[in-house]
Amino acid sequence: MNDAATPTDAAAHPAPAAAAPVKRTPLIAGNWKMHFDHLQAIAFVQKLAWSLKDAQHNYGEVEVAVFPPFTDLRSVQTLLTADKLAVALGAQDVSPHASGAFTGDISAAMLKKLDTKYVIVGHSERRGGHGESDETVGLKARAAVDAGMIPVICVGETAEDLEAHGAAAIPVQQLTAVLAQLTADATFVVAYEPVWAIGSGEPATPAQAEEVGKALRDVLRAERGDDVANATRVLYGGSVASQNIASYMKQPNIDGALVGGASLKVDEFSRIAQFTKHVGV
Ligand code: 13P
Repeated sequence: MNDAATPTDAAAHPAPAAAAPVKRTPLIAGNWKMHFDHLQAIAFVQKLAWSLKDAQHNYGEVEVAVFPPFTDLRSVQTLLTADKLAVALGAQDVSPHASGAFTGDISAAMLKKLDTKYVIVGHSERRGGHGESDETVGLKARAAVDAGMIPVICVGETAEDLEAHGAAAIPVQQLTAVLAQLTADATFVVAYEPVWAIGSGEPATPAQAEEVGKALRDVLRAERGDDVANATRVLYGGSVASQNIASYMKQPNIDGALVGGASLKVDEFSRIAQFTKHVGV
């Protein structure tokens, strides 16, 4: 009898453990942009919460966040607190400054006071429409982190960039520049949003989203090490809908979505959040 593999030996010489699969909680985030006043916002969040409750949504399994305009944040916060709703609150922008003579700006401390968990920084509509540089985006991300919030750092190439440099080059460059402004222990989310896919009805293919998602994770690994690279969520955004969300969520380097237009329709956004039920369709 060959006794080389007795239980005692197995205990003394355990086989090397296989690398544990990386588990990141997916995030489905609705960027409302400049839609909904505070009354519409309250009605929307109430309906969303009912819809997800009906569907027995597990927020621990798939996190759901809404990003209303600034004027809605207080109303939505009050509703979330009063009804103990698990939907997370996000803001669409933040000032890089702590306080002072910055007419029209909103500070990170003001947002934090409203229980804001996430802040979008560097959306292409601000980079393009408001001339925000990578440095400004980095400073905004830092302001959010310093106040105890999680920046959702948006990166993405224009159609011209895609033609000239391929999909990943500009997003990689933008993320690298923002990381230069953040401390090593900062927690953040990255959102890959190709500019040409936003609001166009022409989403990136899942393979393309994965290619860039992987390139962004490689940047995280090189700049921050394995732990940060494995823990950080990389979202895809640009014409996401309930029909295509599952195809993105099957990609190993895509951990959620930043949804624009489809996040304004309760049933559609609720279906997107429930992608686990239609993965494989
Ligand atoms: P759409 O989903 O409308 O394409 O917008 C994406 C976006 O910009 C989210 O931030």
